[in-house]
Amino acid sequence: MLRMKYIIANWKANKTFAEVQKWISTFLQHNFDNIKNSVHIVVCPPSPFIHYLYEETKSFDFISIGSQDVSQYEDGTYTGEVTAKSLSGLVSYAIIGHSERRSFFNETEELIKKKIDLAKKYSIEPILCVRNTSDTIYESVNFIVGEPPEAISDGSGKGKNLSLEKVLNMRNNLGITTQKYIYGGSVNETNITSYISNEHIDGILPGGASLDPDRFYSIVQQSV
Ligand code: PGA
Repeated sequence: MLRMKYIIANWKANKTFAEVQKWISTFLQHNFDNIKNSVHIVVCPPSPFIHYLYEETKSFDFISIGSQDVSQYEDGTYTGEVTAKSLSGLVSYAIIGHSERRSFFNETEELIKKKIDLAKKYSIEPILCVRNTSDTIYESVNFIVGEPPEAISDGSGKGKNLSLEKVLNMRNNLGITTQKYIYGGSVNETNITSYISNEHIDGILPGGASLDPDRFYSIVQQSV
């Protein structure tokens, strides 16, 4: 049986609304006939663009929208928070525990667990990012991203390449068997095939290389 590959764009804190409009119109001009049953695309933009992208992509069932985080709070008097409750119905996935959140925003395991639970409560599939074996893997999470901080690019998508062997070792060391194993860290249109063609890798989470619609389309095409 053909295994679905997941290609998850993490735009981080990039793009203006005008740039988002241009990105999606350019991306959707491409042909997707060959990917529909084998690749699922998840676009994780900054929160202000989630509703717009949801509307633009809702007729394409091979594209979902994801958030880059959810609040640790469910609802209430928490000015500025983007909650799983407010995202519910707009996003299907949420990246949780990205290494940039763990390091720049001091996110703890306790906080990350709360976020996972809230995402699930509101029918949002958590995509849990872990840096190494010291980060906790939760049984309830179906999507685990192995993403060593040293492999993450400076934003261009071109950074330190981890060998396929190291990526697979990380999967083993994390004890992943049934969960989907996604790899992230400087994956781009020139190195994607070395990872995605492996049967133990269920997907890729590109950051910098997902910011350009044509580079991202090339990544998607090479994942078929
Ligand atoms: P990168 O980012 O592809 O630019 O290295 C990946 C990530 O941090 O999610």
